[in-house]
This record gives sequence, structure tokens and C-alpha cells, in this order.
Amino acid sequence: MDEIYLNGDFISKSKAQISVMDRGFLFGDGVYELIPVYNKKPFLLDKHLSRLKNSLSLIGMSEIKDIDIIINTLIDKSSNDNFFIYLHITRGQQIQRQHVYPADIKPTILVMCEDYPAFNEGQIKKGFSASLQDDFRWMKSNIKSISLLGNVLLKNYASQNGFYETLLIRNNKLTEGSASNVFIVKDGKSYTPRLSAELLPGVTRDLLINIMRENNLDVIESDISQTSLMEADEIWCSSSTNAVVPIVRIDDTVINNGVVGKISIDMFNLTSKFIDTF
Ligand code: PDD
Repeated sequence: MDEIYLNGDFISKSKAQISVMDRGFLFGDGVYELIPVYNKKPFLLDKHLSRLKNSLSLIGMSEIKDIDIIINTLIDKSSNDNFFIYLHITRGQQIQRQHVYPADIKPTILVMCEDYPAFNEGQIKKGFSASLQDDFRWMKSNIKSISLLGNVLLKNYASQNGFYETLLIRNNKLTEGSASNVFIVKDGKSYTPRLSAELLPGVTRDLLINIMRENNLDVIESDISQTSLMEADEIWCSSSTNAVVPIVRIDDTVINNGVVGKISIDMFNLTSKFIDTF
């Protein structure tokens, strides 16, 4: 897990260095991806790379050539079978700190293997709690930007107050979690906020929608009001690190008597099966 890719070289993490003049360091000017690897195979790589391409294009950067080759080389080099690929691309370094970047700037490309332990079945079946906060982040949350200060503050509010996640409300609508997308269930139907600049188009969100449709489970992409969220029968968060994380309490409001609902469990099982057979 120690070897990483940085700007053309495979080197040990402890030896890797970047310039203090890198725009990623100075401005948070860049984008990233987090890709699960199961049994040495990158999970839904094409989806992650297409979102990366979109993020790059939305910040005026070009596609990175042969990034899939770099990812697969790093996976081959790793002694582990299951981990995550963290991919971080900044606009690059320039001689002087200034907001305006030159046209010929060369991107900084970092790819490394990371470990994020997944919750076990017992934890999933017990459920988690979340807090509710105003979504004060910027209006381009569809870009997987490395400028994550808003998300960092919101996630740390959760962890410092004993919650798993912070769910975000903007203009009385649920957007997403600080590091996850959100689904709710009401009267047997699942809902998730429709895609917009206010939320990340999660690869796991997309996978869950497909799995639901293949299994004849109703799923609707729509606006979800704060009241609908608080009155939901079931809620779960989705992300590449944990595909389905049931939420049974939001601040002081208990959801479904504090019990993880059937559709959440079904989705956890269906997704785990999909991953196992992938
Ligand atoms: N984050 N929304 C936000 C704000 C996120 O940070 C993430 C994931 C998601 C879910 O996206 P996906 O299903 O593609 O992982 C939604 C990753 C895990 C992270 O920043 O570490």
C-alpha cells in the first residue's frame, strides 16, 4: 500500500513530494475520485472515469490520458486485494501565487491506494444517527472538487456530536449528506434528490437506482422536503465506502421506531450480492 503514482513515477508514499506552489495546495484547485477495488478489480471504473472527465471539464481542465492504465498498474503492484484508489488531480503548480492560471499549466496527478473499513452487517442492521444542517456549501456540488472545507466542517460536526453523517437542507430541500447521497422510503416507495448542481452524482446512488429498477422496487428522483425527510419510514446514505448506511435517528427525531426498515436491509443485501459477484 506504500507505493503511489505521482506525476509519472511510481514511488514510495514517504518519498513523494509536491511543490508548495501547487494550486491544489494554495487554492484547492482540483478534482478527485475515490474508487473501490474488490478482488483486485476497480469497481465501476468507467462510471468513476466518466465523472472525473466531467469534473475536469467543468473546471476547464482536459481529460487525463491513460489514467486507467495507471490505476491498473497500481492495483497490480498492491499486495492487497480490497482497498480504494484515491485519485487527485490539481491544476498544477505555477511560479507565483495568483488566482489566474496560465493556459499551459501542467496538471499534478496523484493516485494512491487507501484503506477505509466498511461497516459490518451487525452495524448496518443496528442503524446509525445523523444530524441536520443547512447546506452552506457552494453551488457547484456536482463537481467532485478537492475544495472540501464545507464538507469537512459538516462531517466533523457530525463526528464531534456522536452522529455518523450530517444531512443537508437547502431552500427546504434535502440535497445530500456531507460525504454521501441520501435515499428515503415512504409507503414502500424510495426517493432520492434529483441530480442538480446542488449534489454530487454519486456512482453508488446510480448503482442503487439501477438495482432497484432491476428488482421492481419503485424509486423516484425528485425534490424531498425537510418534512418528508423527517417523516420518512426509512432513510439511508450511500457512498463508495459504504453503499447502504441506514439512518434510524435524525437529531432527536427517531425514524421507524429506531429500527432499520425492510427496504434498507434488502438494498444492503442486494448491493452486497452485486459487489460479491462483480
Ligand atoms: N465521497 N456526496 C458527497 C458530498 C460525497 O463526498 C460522496 C462520496 C458521495 C457519494 O458518491 P459515490 O457514491 O460516488 O462515492 C456523495 C467519497 C466517498 C469521499 O469523499 O471520500
